[in-house]
Amino acid sequence: MSDRVLAVVLAAGESTRMKSTKSKVLHTVGNLPMITHVMIALEKTGVTDVALVVGRDAGPVIAAASSGSLKVTPYEQKERLGTGHAVLAARDEIAKGYDQVIVAYADAPLIEPGPLAEAREKVRAGFDVAVIGFRADKPTGYGRLLEADGELVAIREEKDATPEERKVTLCNSGLMAIDGAKALALLGKITNNNAKGEYYLTDIIEILRGEGGKAATVEAPLDTVAGCNNRAELAELEAIWQRKKRHELMISGVTMIAPETVFLSYDTEIGQDTIIEPNVVFGPGVVVEPNAVIHAFSHLEGAHVASGANVGPYARLRPGANLHANAKVGNFVEIKKAEIGEGAKVSHLTYIGDATIGPRANIGAGTVTCNYDGFNKFDTVIGAEAFIGSNSSLVAPVNIGEGALTASGSVITEDVPAGAAAFGRARQTNKLGYGTEIAARNRALKESKKKT
Ligand code: UD1
Ligand code: CA
Repeated sequence: MSDRVLAVVLAAGESTRMKSTKSKVLHTVGNLPMITHVMIALEKTGVTDVALVVGRDAGPVIAAASSGSLKVTPYEQKERLGTGHAVLAARDEIAKGYDQVIVAYADAPLIEPGPLAEAREKVRAGFDVAVIGFRADKPTGYGRLLEADGELVAIREEKDATPEERKVTLCNSGLMAIDGAKALALLGKITNNNAKGEYYLTDIIEILRGEGGKAATVEAPLDTVAGCNNRAELAELEAIWQRKKRHELMISGVTMIAPETVFLSYDTEIGQDTIIEPNVVFGPGVVVEPNAVIHAFSHLEGAHVASGANVGPYARLRPGANLHANAKVGNFVEIKKAEIGEGAKVSHLTYIGDATIGPRANIGAGTVTCNYDGFNKFDTVIGAEAFIGSNSSLVAPVNIGEGALTASGSVITEDVPAGAAAFGRARQTNKLGYGTEIAARNRALKESKKKT
């Protein structure tokens, strides 16, 4: 039978140093709230239940934690009396009886299933607690893992540490696995007899050692356990996360010419042999299939780009943009909620919204779908192989048939039948000599102004 594993996720902090009107754990990394990243890692670790300890912003914090398939039970920590006190806010849940209890902080979004699974294994193998630690060049601010004879004997908080102990560079990540059968008894013995007057979860190690128990350390790389207290650290976590995600995509066969300039989202999918030029931003919900090219300075969000398609430079694909195979969307083109048919071209300076463009249609420079009347949105349908002349305004709702043509500069307010040519503009007249006459009049006006 598989283990029952409870994760107690601490998210009740005041986020004072974040200087934000919302809870720290709702701030995003890769466009996903930090707490949601933590939940995804826990799910992959084999956690079966989650006790979420909340304080401020409980509603949105619970919602962000519940977006996956894990069952989340919220517990309110009414006063902020420390991490040991926070875990015990979930006392009733722990008392239900679990094989292992994992404690995780919701402000550490880089966590990966590997070290968590290793900590669980240690507890299975007979340790009462396994703590995930990391080596820091600058350990200031972290609790230190104190070891003797290869065993973890205590965790000392910075404020309570001796100068000798402060030199230790093995730090407490805050993540630990506890033997579920002993968790409540151990947690119940934590006191607040320390420099901060808080109930430190970290005291659990000395407590269990005092009773003849054993604790283990699991060392993990800093870029899997780093936490976030302020916006500068949030930006550092973002940079680490972006680096990892880019690496993952490049290893899977995506070419990035200047990867450090490409910004990805948690759910960005890019196929093999697709080329991403410098300075491209992927908002949430983007799928790019194999063998496409995304040229420099393009911004994509909620868009699908099929194989062989060519996007940018300087293109903007907004939600609902769906480029079929070999479609081309060129510079200074914005596409919103529109199908761009196979091999269709929208090459320059164009807005296409609420539209369906048939295969191999050609949309001239400066074309605008006038899709909005200030109150409602309307659709534009353009048939296969149609040719839209440059600077056409297509006033929706409007249909342009297969193989139809609109003359440059047209304002198209009525449907155009298949194969027809539509002229939605005034006929040109040439007045001989009149250009010279106008120029002479204007020159005279300028001269008369100089004299006064
Ligand atoms: C804690 C650890 C420290 C470790 C560091 C890693 C303790 C005593 N110290 O210190 O050893 O190196 O994390 O980042 O555990 N929280 C509550 N309720 C509370 C207090 C905290 O829910 O009453 C939550 C916070 O929201 C946060 C987490 O617990 O998610 C950690 O709290 P924080 O105050 O940031 O702990 P540190 O001082 O960083
Ligand atoms: Ca912290």
